[in-house]
Amino acid sequence: MHDAIERVLISEEQIKARIAQLAQELEAEYANKNPLFVGLLKGVVVFFADMFRAVQIPCELDFMVVSSYSGTNTTGVINVRKDLDTDIKGRHVVILEDIIDSGLTLSHTLEFLRSREPASIKICTLLDKPARRKAPLSADYIGFTIPDEFVVGYGMDFNEQFRNLPLWAS
Ligand code: IMP
Ligand code: MG
Repeated sequence: MHDAIERVLISEEQIKARIAQLAQELEAEYANKNPLFVGLLKGVVVFFADMFRAVQIPCELDFMVVSSYSGTNTTGVINVRKDLDTDIKGRHVVILEDIIDSGLTLSHTLEFLRSREPASIKICTLLDKPARRKAPLSADYIGFTIPDEFVVGYGMDFNEQFRNLPLWAS
């Protein structure tokens, strides 16, 4: 498909099947809770669009853009470049993520969102790389656990390229 791609890690069919399973779990948990699905841009967009359409219960969506301040050891500090439009106080929030790597950005984001007193807040990630974790963080819903390998495709980039691959490759 692309010269720079060495091999396919997880196929389009595998991703689709796993999303259908995760969607069933989310539907069972959130059937009467009108959850707010929050996507952290940009890597999550492809997963978000597929997951959001797979979950057939009343629900809403919103997006954030956050980054960790680099070059400092300070914890609990994130740069919120785009905040939510939605008031999450008393809401059931599900953060959708493409991948959890160090977990630093996400753990800071969780702390930030918890201060707004949502009724609940859970994490659903399509990929998990636990070997790289630096913050004590585990997702509530995980698509695939993968080894410490850099992957591209299905929304994830290398220098902003490859996000449009329908599968994961390395
Ligand atoms: P962290 O968990 O705070 O380290 O940040 C995870 C973010 O790093 C993800 O949302 C991705 O944007 C990016 N990332 C981590 N691992 C990969 C990878 O294998 N390929 C592409 N992007 C990655
Ligand atoms: Mg991301």
